[in-house]
Amino acid sequence: MGKKITASITAVGGFVPPDKLTNFDLEKMVDTNDEWIRTRTGIEERRILKGESLATSDMVVPAVQDLCRTRGIDPMDIDCMIVGTVTPDMVFPATANIACDKLGAKNAWGFDVSAACSGFLYSLTLGASLIESGRYKKVVVCGADKMSAIIDYSDRSTCIIFGDGAGAVLLEPNTEGFGVLDSILKSDGSGCHYLHMKAGGSKRPATIETVIAKEHYIYQEGQAVFKFAVKGMADVSAELLERNHLTGNDIAWLVPHQANKRIIDATAHRMGLSSEKVMLNIQRYGNTTAGTIPLCLWEWQNQLKKGDNIVLAAFGGGFTWGATLVKWGF
Ligand code: UT7
Repeated sequence: MGKKITASITAVGGFVPPDKLTNFDLEKMVDTNDEWIRTRTGIEERRILKGESLATSDMVVPAVQDLCRTRGIDPMDIDCMIVGTVTPDMVFPATANIACDKLGAKNAWGFDVSAACSGFLYSLTLGASLIESGRYKKVVVCGADKMSAIIDYSDRSTCIIFGDGAGAVLLEPNTEGFGVLDSILKSDGSGCHYLHMKAGGSKRPATIETVIAKEHYIYQEGQAVFKFAVKGMADVSAELLERNHLTGNDIAWLVPHQANKRIIDATAHRMGLSSEKVMLNIQRYGNTTAGTIPLCLWEWQNQLKKGDNIVLAAFGGGFTWGATLVKWGF
């Protein structure tokens, strides 16, 4: 009998646009201040993708090129590409298709996954399953969002949080027990009410009225989402540890979705992890939705060691949430 195939992460890529939007810039745009934003969220600045008709795929492409360079492969070697995003270039076709074309990844099929801030975790589990099945050898999983495209920069309750960015990982088969080992994913559509975009879908197609009513922007009831997020992310992370007979001592890194530093602190505390084991870059990038977790992996890749147990955890719109256990493979 052959050894069990797991999906190992063998390379990471990332891209953040060069333009920064700082808390001080926001002070000039809405009634807010640097101190409030820093203490309530941990954010100091975020990146914004500027440029005529630049879209989410324009961040996916450099992130995947970065990954290919690191691994020494050509985009033609990619079998499948999955993009977690809620800000696709267009309603259809999928951003994955557009990005593959721009990359010259002519042998890849691909699709998008709409799971908001859990988009990368959902996509990672799907990608890992494709590898585990034995049918595919190189699957690229991206988390990417151009949040600035759906933010109302006169709404202080949402515009201070979000930023733009993309990250990607390459999954390859492994028979030594490295890679995606377990994953608990959850969803609860009754949470839709608290975090959504009102118009632009089939329920409320775009009209002059929807534009005037600013219904093509994010709507969020922050406090309610905050409460669900603290409980959801901490519970699922604790459940993942328990189910794998692990404690905080066995975990080298927590890679949390970067929505609010207070949510991250609560999750780390519940898992018994000190802050040195928590990846945190929210201060520089804000909440890039599906981008946050792969962007952390991208920035921390040189500090990760082969064999490290890491836990990725997220909570977001849907509601969607989950936690994934990865044994680092390179
Ligand atoms: O990633 C997807 C999932 N999303 C999340 O996980 C986000 C979860 N929610 C949050 O992170 C937080 O709820 C926010 C950061 C969005 C808001 O923080 P909060 O501590 O929940 O603030 P709040 O909404 O309860 O507002 C507190 C006060 C209010 O004033 P009053 O009514 O107490 O006088 C707000 O009007 O702060 C006011 N406020 C602001 N003040 C300065 C709200 N936004 C701002 C602002 N600057 N930008």
